[in-house]
Amino acid sequence: MTGQTGYSHIQEAAQYIREQITIQPEVGLILGSGLGILGDHLEDAVSIPYHDIPHFPVSTVEGHAGELMVGTLNGRPAALMRGRFHMYEGYEAALTAFPVRVMNAIGIGSLLVTNAAGGVNTSFQPGDLMLISDHLNLTGKSPLAGPNDNRLGVRFPDMSEAYSKRLRAAAKEVAASLGISVQEGVYASLLGPNYETPAEIRMLRTLGADAVGMSTVVEVIAARHSGMEVLGISCISNMAAGILDQPLSHDEVMETTDRVKTQFLSLVKGVIPYL
Ligand code: 6GU
Repeated sequence: MTGQTGYSHIQEAAQYIREQITIQPEVGLILGSGLGILGDHLEDAVSIPYHDIPHFPVSTVEGHAGELMVGTLNGRPAALMRGRFHMYEGYEAALTAFPVRVMNAIGIGSLLVTNAAGGVNTSFQPGDLMLISDHLNLTGKSPLAGPNDNRLGVRFPDMSEAYSKRLRAAAKEVAASLGISVQEGVYASLLGPNYETPAEIRMLRTLGADAVGMSTVVEVIAARHSGMEVLGISCISNMAAGILDQPLSHDEVMETTDRVKTQFLSLVKGVIPYL
């Protein structure tokens, strides 16, 4: 591992966070565009700005606040990242995944990741929620590249169940009980920050992708490396290029996540007890 992301840096960040909190978080949440509002639902929350945490990157995208919140959510002690890091911002994969390793170092064993994604599967509609069954890492990068530190995980981690079957089954039950319909599918992650061309979207569909985005996979790889159980949920914020005859915009992404926020938040809250 290179840069300020090694074992000792993880431990320093974890130690700083431990000094700010009085509860032991069990669940980690990383929330994508427009969903940071879940932080408002945390009880007895402590907010720790990213810029105060040793070695933490600071996010640069509008709509991502940049704080780690620790509190209780639906009865579970949880740590919630309000704002995440993307490789398109210029961060290396290991730095993008650094907060996940820090969460694991403070004792968190399960991770819920959400994102806004483009629909590649033509049967999807903007506003659909999709449980991530698997991913395609098309970023060309891994947070595990470089010498392996065995204290963090094995050299060649298994990825045959990156997204927990148990948690997906639980999420389906919770969704059904709330009357929320959910899709399930494969999330492809690309570097971005440009959206894809129609030809690229046809390629992704051929490769088996149902949704496309610019986040999540490096975080999930680091989480699985450290043995965490993962649940991933995408909000299909728009259809990907070439499906509808209209250009894509970040505004549409924000508008759609805003529209389905209530459903998304109830689903996320509802699955917390299972994490
Ligand atoms: Cl269409 N592509 C990517 N890469 N990310 C997205 C998206 C599309 N829609 C929302 N996020």
